[in-house]
Amino acid sequence: MAEAKKINRYTVTAALPYANGPKHIGHLAGAYIPADVYVRFLRLLKKNVVFVCGSDEHGTAIPNQALKEGTTPREIIDKYHALIRDCLYQLGISFDVYHRTSEPIHHETSQEFFLDLHGKGLLAEETSEQYFDTQANVFLADRYIMGTCPRCGHPNAYGDQCEKCGSTLSPNELINPRSTLSGTPPVLKPTKHWYLPLQNYEPWLRDWILKSHADDWKTNVYGQCKSWIDAGLQPRAMTRDLDWGIKVPLPDTEGKVLYVWFDAPIGYVSATRALFQELSQGKRTFSTPQSDFGKVSADDWKKYWQAEDTSLIHFIGKDNIVFHCIIFPVILHASGKYILPDNVPANEFLNLEGDKMSTSRGWSIEMHDYLREFPGKEDVLRYTLLTIMPEAKDSEFTWKDYQSKNNNELVAIFGNFVNRALVLTQKYFDNKLPARGTLTEIDERLIAEVQAFPSRIAAAIEAYKFREATALLMDLARTGNKYLAETEPWKLAAKDLARVGTILNLALQVSANLAVLCEPFLPFTADKLRGMLAMKKLLWDDTGSVDLLPAGHALGVSSLLFEKIENPVIEAQIQKLMNTKAPEPTPAAKPAAPLKSEVTIDDFGKLDIRVGKVLAAEKMEKSNKLLKLTVNSGLDTRTILSGIAQHYTPEEMVGKQVVFIANLAPRKMMGLESQGMILTASDADGKVKLLQPAGEVDPGATIS
Ligand code: MF3
Ligand code: ZN
Repeated sequence: MAEAKKINRYTVTAALPYANGPKHIGHLAGAYIPADVYVRFLRLLKKNVVFVCGSDEHGTAIPNQALKEGTTPREIIDKYHALIRDCLYQLGISFDVYHRTSEPIHHETSQEFFLDLHGKGLLAEETSEQYFDTQANVFLADRYIMGTCPRCGHPNAYGDQCEKCGSTLSPNELINPRSTLSGTPPVLKPTKHWYLPLQNYEPWLRDWILKSHADDWKTNVYGQCKSWIDAGLQPRAMTRDLDWGIKVPLPDTEGKVLYVWFDAPIGYVSATRALFQELSQGKRTFSTPQSDFGKVSADDWKKYWQAEDTSLIHFIGKDNIVFHCIIFPVILHASGKYILPDNVPANEFLNLEGDKMSTSRGWSIEMHDYLREFPGKEDVLRYTLLTIMPEAKDSEFTWKDYQSKNNNELVAIFGNFVNRALVLTQKYFDNKLPARGTLTEIDERLIAEVQAFPSRIAAAIEAYKFREATALLMDLARTGNKYLAETEPWKLAAKDLARVGTILNLALQVSANLAVLCEPFLPFTADKLRGMLAMKKLLWDDTGSVDLLPAGHALGVSSLLFEKIENPVIEAQIQKLMNTKAPEPTPAAKPAAPLKSEVTIDDFGKLDIRVGKVLAAEKMEKSNKLLKLTVNSGLDTRTILSGIAQHYTPEEMVGKQVVFIANLAPRKMMGLESQGMILTASDADGKVKLLQPAGEVDPGATIS
């Protein structure tokens, strides 16, 4: 168990998304929503917290996407940085800073880290042979090399992985490697790189993670760390041969950049640094009220990264665990000045309608599409994702579930409860909070229940159990709803208006509690509800009481908090997904060659068509069309010249069965006699393929 430490401030990070394309709801559920709930909760506790994120703008993913879109890496990062940032803010993710790793301050910070480690002799310099594309004149990152998988024979495996059989590969294992840039086979060439000797940190990692965090890290995270450490840690290159990234700050390192996973997590530090620089210049404000924590100086970022009384928490998806739990902590530890993460509450993956989410396959719900198609329903998505958050194992989003969470929970419980309380107050009490009279047993029970909720929800959030916390929040609304159903104030107005006043007072106090407690989960709803109750912002510790609003308090204008989502809306979304699975439309066939004039069966019978076997093949000098084939015809060994040199290499032809006309009058071509004609099929696109029998037959076999 980690020793309880005194915490005076929090640094909360959410994984920096690659600015190489739009991000989907799986990313939201994985890192951004849990991080945001956690941070908003801390702010309601009046904690000093900084919430940092930004775009990850380096690595091969960026130039790769530029290649695909036919543009420059710069344009790619500018476009997707803005898109992703705007979507996240629109969904209420309340970062204090959303930075970019392309900013100069980040380049400086990363280079400082690198030089610090290098200066301390902590990076091992090593020269090794790596694949180089002689045509494109660059070293090839793993993803730029393709070849045949040595495990399953898949012809299009990548240098780091075979997507057919899932094996992890290294580029030199590939059979017949080729460069994806030029298509040519790459050559091995020596190159120098700087390695982080992870193996030297094994005892330290065992102690820090496996011993100290056995109880407070999630089992999925702890388990992954343990299997990495147990498998034996290897030195890992912290530099790459690439022309996109942060230059290696050493002499004679032209064409070398820092490994993206070296610089990206340092992006959290640079972002904090940039934030405090701007705060100190009065260029921006900060969610943590400055008056509470003294005057800000540009150097204050250091407190958030180097002071022992700071708690650092990284929110990420499971594919990022090794980088945040092993590699980055080793870098922080080796630097000697930095604090380590107290926790890395990584989530598993979110599937969609029975399949893995994938932007490239179209099987996903992109943030910008959702925001465009469901305006005003940001909280509905937040709520649904919170209820299915893949905390312990992969989970699944379905549109039907989304609809039911909205209609049966947000509308029917939360919204309905609040609405009934408000409407009845308008009706019987002129929209002013009635006073409470004598309390009955059922009232006392409600008050006791309300009192217990804040600490129960807080405990769940503190344990990173966001599903449970969300369920508890809905339980509070359910408790209120049940109270109204049991007391039925709408039936009492004629007999006992004072009793109605007591019931509505309590119902509105519960609503006020909801307005505060739902803020981390449903920030837009919190604002709306606060407006309807005309209440000021309160803190977490104010809740649990039924005295949040004074009797006589004038309420605001009410409207519906949530609206029902009808079937056609949901069906359209499901249909849209299904459309991405439809088979590719077959391209319109090219016109076939016109029909020749009719022949009789006797005409056809005159042709002697046979199968032969190619014994030898060579290119004809001075002709780029003709191959000279030596063919066993079954009758003899003969020479046939064939115009297939642009479609088949001589090596490919040897051993092949061919179909040929055996009784065609010999013809002279390029000074050689051809004793027959090989039959091929050619289409309108100029593709040429040999004709062959469906199986092996003896040379000389006749065709009829
Ligand atoms: N860009 C990475 C990804 O999308 C995450 C980087 S997290 C970092 O998987 F901050 F460490 F950079
Ligand atoms: Zn394979």
